[in-house]
Amino acid sequence: MLIKNGTVVTASETVKADVYIEGEKVHTIGTDLQMKADQWIDAKGCYLFPGGIDAHTHMDLPFMGTSSSDDFETGTLAGLHGGTTTIIDLAFQKQGDTLQNGLNTWFGKSEGKAVGDYAFHMVVTDFNDQTREEIKTMVEKFGITSFKTFMAYKGALMVDDRQIIGLFNEVEKHGGIVTTHAENGDMVDTLVSENRRKGNTAPKYHPLSRPPIVEAEATGRIADLAWEGKHPLYIVHMTCEDALNRVRDVSKRNQKVHVETCVQYLLLDDTCYEEPDFGGAKYVMSPPIRKKKDQEALWKGIEQGIVEVVATDHCPFCMDQKRAGEKDFSKIPNGAPGVEDRMALMYSEAVVKRGMSLNKFVDITATAPARIFGMLPKKGTIAVGADADIVIFDPNREQTLSAKTHHMRCDYNTYEGWKVKGKCRQTILRGTLAIDDGKALIGKGFGKYIKRAKYAQTLN
Ligand code: URP
Ligand code: ZN
Ligand code: ZN
Repeated sequence: MLIKNGTVVTASETVKADVYIEGEKVHTIGTDLQMKADQWIDAKGCYLFPGGIDAHTHMDLPFMGTSSSDDFETGTLAGLHGGTTTIIDLAFQKQGDTLQNGLNTWFGKSEGKAVGDYAFHMVVTDFNDQTREEIKTMVEKFGITSFKTFMAYKGALMVDDRQIIGLFNEVEKHGGIVTTHAENGDMVDTLVSENRRKGNTAPKYHPLSRPPIVEAEATGRIADLAWEGKHPLYIVHMTCEDALNRVRDVSKRNQKVHVETCVQYLLLDDTCYEEPDFGGAKYVMSPPIRKKKDQEALWKGIEQGIVEVVATDHCPFCMDQKRAGEKDFSKIPNGAPGVEDRMALMYSEAVVKRGMSLNKFVDITATAPARIFGMLPKKGTIAVGADADIVIFDPNREQTLSAKTHHMRCDYNTYEGWKVKGKCRQTILRGTLAIDDGKALIGKGFGKYIKRAKYAQTLN
């Protein structure tokens, strides 16, 4: 395949160049390439971005009495439509069971189904002597080099500090990194109980039961636990200034903490919970959507390089699923859709409206997650020898986001009616034209599982 006349953007360079792809890999990047090709694409007026990497998704996740509504087929296909070629999904250990069984379950959900490429973080919900033994196998055999802990969802997913310390030690021994959902589960439970006792049942009590201090406390604590043993740490879906300031604080002792935020925390504010007719339930996710000043703090955090990754935490539930919590906000399944819209929203809101450089855009949506999670240079950049995962992005097209037109299996869109500038015109996955002007040319089973390399300590 020869892509002519586009502007190639990587995390460090922006150059007008042609790209010649042979098989699954980028073969040559240069000006005025004249190779013979079976397929020829004119990308005049378009950017060539590395395929997006969404470092945090939940496809087909059994959660809060139901399952997230996208599976690996619909969810990765929706991602491809929006220019995300690889997801890192979360494979869960069941408490009392093994990591291997958890992983087998997630392979069962994804193999032969995923359309786009995928990797897994392993969620450790029960760290014990047997789990300890399994970490090495996860890293060495399956290329799973990141391990997630939940400091909230008490009684379901939450682990205590002792387990976290044990996990930190074992994971580092084998070259991995621990990632964390940082909310204090006991504080959450207390506030939820108080609200329920007072008869506060509406969705707006969800954020009131998880105020910023809940997230800030857990962020500071996990940073301290990591510091004590000098372990690498990645905090998922950070939402607020107070938590960010805990990371700023620990940077004074020269500690590096990787921080991810998600599109919704940059673009939405907590007035969304006031939407009438149970509409606030659409935004019930944990941690919750915060105030405008928190959005601004996160944007500053990106500018400073503290927030390195923008993911989605894509975890969709349809409105009939959300209605399980119509009489009790704490029963609303937590999560929202987003995998399809991340690239266009970030281009429109960050690059066009806020003047972010194209290179920084590429970094936060693709290169940084690839670097932190051991996929660079195979994924996350456009380079000779890399997988030819390329988005041909037309900056002049406009689109209106809507559940009527999106491909995610969810009956609402978090950004319904938002007009965004820029659209993914074509998506190429490992050298194959996957999406052409809104038309899918590949189907289930095309997606490959990606084994990842160990965490590069030199980053610290
Ligand atoms: O509300 C959320 N975020 N749901 C998905 C699970 C998680 O906490 O990441
Ligand atoms: Zn989480
Ligand atoms: Zn999540």
